Amino acid sequence: MAKAVAEGARSGGNVEVELNYYIEAEELGLFDAILIGAPTYHHEMPIDIKMMFEEAAVRGVNLKDKKGAAFGSYGWTGEAPKYALEIMKNKFEMHIAEPPLLAKYTPDQRMLDQCRALGKRISESLIRSA
Ligand SMILES: Cc1cc2nc3c(=O)[nH]c(=O)nc-3n(C[C@H](O)[C@H](O)[C@H](O)COP(=O)(O)O)c2cc1C
Repeated sequence: MAKAVAEGARSGGNVEVELNYYIEAEELGLFDAILIGAPTYHHEMPIDIKMMFEEAAVRGVNLKDKKGAAFGSYGWTGEAPKYALEIMKNKFEMHIAEPPLLAKYTPDQRMLDQCRALGKRISESLIRSA
């Protein structure tokens, strides 16, 4: 899903896209948009994503008005992307314009197209607001 989102984001215009499996909290401040991929385990986000947000909060990383989106695969409840969006919106005051994009287990081609479309929309919105 993350690769498809990144591919779509690159197709959305002249934007630099980074696909990271791990990122330091301070580095979040370098980006205009942050798209989080989070599978749901035990009704939670993965611990490394929680800790990244926790670190960003403790260190006062400013993410205000950056664009945010979240996606992830799930099995039966799929809370993780929703929680990521809540934190981005309510704690970091990021701009969230998209509902969470959820794939039940392995994403099929249709879902990967939706991932590409999500990435593309975010890029296009960045270009529009530049
Ligand atoms: C130990 C374990 C706990 C899980 N807990 C949940 C859960 O609480 N809610 C849910 O929707 N899916 C849950 N799942 C299903 C995963 O979210 C699903 O398999 C997802 O596709 C995993 O994505 P990944 O392969 O990218 O890690 C769980 C899976 C495992 C193995």
